[in-house]
Amino acid sequence: MEKWIAFEKGKINYTVQGDGPAVVLLHGFLEDLTIWQSFAEKLAAKFKVIAIDLPGFGKTSTFDKIHSMPYMANTVYSVLADEGVDKCIMVGHSMGGYVTLSFAMNYPDKLSGLVLFHSQAAADTEEGKINRERTIEIVKGDHYSFIHSFIPSLFAEENVEKYAEEIEALRKISEKNSIEGIVAALAGMRDRPDYLEMLAAIDIPVFFIIGKKDSRIDINIILDQLTIPQNCEALILDGIGHMGFIEAKDITYLAIEHFVERNA
Ligand code: MLT
Repeated sequence: MEKWIAFEKGKINYTVQGDGPAVVLLHGFLEDLTIWQSFAEKLAAKFKVIAIDLPGFGKTSTFDKIHSMPYMANTVYSVLADEGVDKCIMVGHSMGGYVTLSFAMNYPDKLSGLVLFHSQAAADTEEGKINRERTIEIVKGDHYSFIHSFIPSLFAEENVEKYAEEIEALRKISEKNSIEGIVAALAGMRDRPDYLEMLAAIDIPVFFIIGKKDSRIDINIILDQLTIPQNCEALILDGIGHMGFIEAKDITYLAIEHFVERNA
């Protein structure tokens, strides 16, 4: 069921399916909650599944010039408060993982586990921040061209042709997002702190899903983080880029289902 709540001067859009322990699904940059459709439908057989359009994406409003990760995490908190969710497992794809980490920092008692799906806990490097600035200028100039070339780069090169239809569908989703929403997310990612200390301090299970061919996040950055949490699991996928929920749909779904079953 599609729902929304009022938040500041706009609204937050989300879906709720199923009953049971709560699982929250957060999409990545340029995506919206529809990326989780097949995962959400299956998980809803056993769990209450909440997928949220993060600020500036999907049907959720753009609220500000910068959507910081804590700001995005607060919108998630507001949805969970409205839904009466006391504890959940949170699954975040890439930028959604940064939001999950920010949520864990501010509301650790609300989580019984977290999944960093092609995501990681370090801040942007200085070079990364400069690249964000460049990307912001490119998006302001011609966001359609940016989206057109960015989406295929999320897949392992050998998967681009195989998933041509999915790439087209993702481009259509992304094209609905406003320039302001895209820029606000880029600025929020640029400014995010590192969450490494927090990752060491929390005692809930952390599950990393990693693509060896991820062009957005170097696998070595994530591998260095695997020994940080007190309780950590990882799925390392050969020949997979940044889009495991498409490129390795079955294995990543089952891995998440099992993680949720064990920890919810
Ligand atoms: C994402 O897929 O959410 C972003 O590419 C992550 C990032 O740029 O750091």
